[in-house]
Amino acid sequence: MIDNSSASGPGREALRLDVAALRADTPGCRQVIHFNNAGCGLLAAPVTDAMIGHLNLEARMGGYEASAARAAEVREFYTEIAALINTTPDNIAFAGSATHAYANALSSIPFETDDVILTTRDDFVSNQIAFLSLRKRFGVRIVHAPNTPEGGVDVEAMAALMRTHRPRLVSATHVPTNSGLVSPVAEIGRHCRELDLLYLVDACQSLGQFVIDVEEIGCDFLTATCRKFLRGPRGSGFLYVSDRVLRAGYEPLFIDMHGARWTEPGGYEPVATAARFEEWEFPYATVLGSAAATRYARKVGIEAIEQRTPALAARLRDRLAPIPGVRVLDRGPRLAALVTFGIAGWQPQLFKAAMDARGINSALSLREFAQFDFGDKDVDWCLRLSPHYYNTEEEVDHVADAVADLAGQGRR
Ligand SMILES: Cc1ncc(COP(=O)(O)O)c(C=O)c1O
Repeated sequence: MIDNSSASGPGREALRLDVAALRADTPGCRQVIHFNNAGCGLLAAPVTDAMIGHLNLEARMGGYEASAARAAEVREFYTEIAALINTTPDNIAFAGSATHAYANALSSIPFETDDVILTTRDDFVSNQIAFLSLRKRFGVRIVHAPNTPEGGVDVEAMAALMRTHRPRLVSATHVPTNSGLVSPVAEIGRHCRELDLLYLVDACQSLGQFVIDVEEIGCDFLTATCRKFLRGPRGSGFLYVSDRVLRAGYEPLFIDMHGARWTEPGGYEPVATAARFEEWEFPYATVLGSAAATRYARKVGIEAIEQRTPALAARLRDRLAPIPGVRVLDRGPRLAALVTFGIAGWQPQLFKAAMDARGINSALSLREFAQFDFGDKDVDWCLRLSPHYYNTEEEVDHVADAVADLAGQGRR
């Protein structure tokens, strides 16, 4: 699906995608202008085929029998995800959501009173709430590294906090839900490895959009959902667990009969692999759909996606910025395909409804999703538009024109 015949930019080859073919694989493109890939990407036909095929098999032969019959294909979920993030299948645990994967990872850390969790001002809302919950229950301390004036965490200041506090956990979100910021997770990781600190990365919004290499990032845990830029089904995600963490014996608090063997009446042994972070029950059609989505993304080419997707977003920002009444909010040295902006004279729900009415999918971000970021930017809400590689330049321009039109109306 890649045509890499032309070159662009210093030192970087331009990888062209066959957008028409990719759109033909994506029935949703014929229905809607989908700029909500940061919510959930449109499914490609091979993904729905894999899922429906398995549901039909379950209906015909029985659920347990169907998963046994498709064991080799189920295994491909692990090999595909492992190849996507540069690890081995034994380091991957399937999860029903990124939040579940994240909570499971946190539950494996024996926090004690006054342990420090060092994080950033752009860590995902549910992660921040989980830290507050740990503070309520165990008395941990939460330290937020400061941002640079340009936007995004100040890595040197964060490293200094690592040396002062020796945190029990360092956490960072690669791309937050509420802005296009790309956090320097590999730079943070280098300091964690140097100081031998446990490091948890939320890669929910970057998976399927950027090349993710857990070795380069140097993380111990990495969480993601498959449904966003990877274009997998809802209800799918995973937890990456490093060999370091597995060898050290970390295990989730509520480990079950899949993650452990009940070896004697009074004891159990966790399994050696990341499967110890899974549960016995799996939504097999969803697992197979996630494998198909990962295979599809790898076939399209993550490097090509990484070029095209943020470039479409940059085009959108360029067109939105001059519109009177519109304030583009994304800041930082590198930006992802999440475009966020405020608009004067509109209530959030009404503005989104007006976009819906024009056949444009978008999402709202509210202050409660981003207390630090929206506090710093002094906004209560924004609209988020998140194109993907299968969107077109014409769609970007059409969406920008729609925003300009609505900004001109300035209705409340
Ligand atoms: C950055 C980030 N982390 C985590 C999540 C949570 O993912 P899930 O809904 O699969 O738990 C999201 C979802 O929007 C997200 O944007």
